[in-house]
Amino acid sequence: MKSSFPLFPDSASALSGEVDLLFILWCVISIFFSLLIAGLILYFMTRYRRRHPEDVGANERAAIWLEVGWSVIPLVIMLAMFAWGARVFFRIYRPPKDAVQFTAIGKQWMWKVQHPGGQREIDTMHVPVNQPIRVTLASEDVIHSFYIPAFRVKQDAVPGRYTSIWFRATKPGTYHLFCAEYCGTEHSRMIGWVIVMEPQDYETWLAGGATGKSMAASGAELFQSLACVTCHRATPGRVARGPALEGLYNRQVKLADGRTIIADDTYIRESILTPTAKLVAGWEPVMPTFQGQVSEEQLTELIAYIHSLGAAGSPPAGGGQP
Ligand code: CUA
Repeated sequence: MKSSFPLFPDSASALSGEVDLLFILWCVISIFFSLLIAGLILYFMTRYRRRHPEDVGANERAAIWLEVGWSVIPLVIMLAMFAWGARVFFRIYRPPKDAVQFTAIGKQWMWKVQHPGGQREIDTMHVPVNQPIRVTLASEDVIHSFYIPAFRVKQDAVPGRYTSIWFRATKPGTYHLFCAEYCGTEHSRMIGWVIVMEPQDYETWLAGGATGKSMAASGAELFQSLACVTCHRATPGRVARGPALEGLYNRQVKLADGRTIIADDTYIRESILTPTAKLVAGWEPVMPTFQGQVSEEQLTELIAYIHSLGAAGSPPAGGGQP
């Protein structure tokens, strides 16, 4: 789609072409059938109109091929639309394995973005071109929605849980980042920019940011200062009072009530804030809550740290390394 065509946003991600194709085809199919049906209604209205006051309608039996045809053909078209739509849906919601992990936290009325290297930005997000990027979304207050029209991605940031989106920008440039969920007085001003840069320019930009610590390193510090380390790590002469966190990320965990869950971002966040909600089998409910003591940003840093200790079935994420 040409960027000069004002009805359409720029197309600048690996998936935007596919989403557009789907959208245009759906429109074509809808318009075709709308016109066909409206046309037939008009045609039959004239062709079979009542010509004399004495006319009486007669019952007609439609041919069987006609009945089957107008049931089966739309069914096949619908199923094809469903299959194709589902395929694109799964591609949009399954980030590639090599995606670099960013976080964006919605807050009335701004987006707080953090890079895997620890750099922070407000309402701006610098990203390298052609690199898959996964953005974990959280909210500090109400529901916001992270929306980059040029990349065809939109996802709610919901208080109390994590959601995520991913994209691979294909064209350097500056693109709108919107909040697409009414979130209060200044909602309409919750607008930012995604700046897509050539990899070397991005490196230069990162180097200029001089923030020092990666997310995982900040998380490691918090792990010390919040004294998580006293229970979650056995030392000579002291038994750990909580499960070890090495290799926990994305692993299956057996709970005290017999259920099995995956230790994903949402689970780890919940376990920090409400430790008794999903107690791991074999451990006492002795962990205090950290509700009110850690911010959403610090939670994402703690999770980045736990991720850096190793994930199930994969080596520690490159982006999460201190
Ligand atoms: Cu945040 Cu609208």
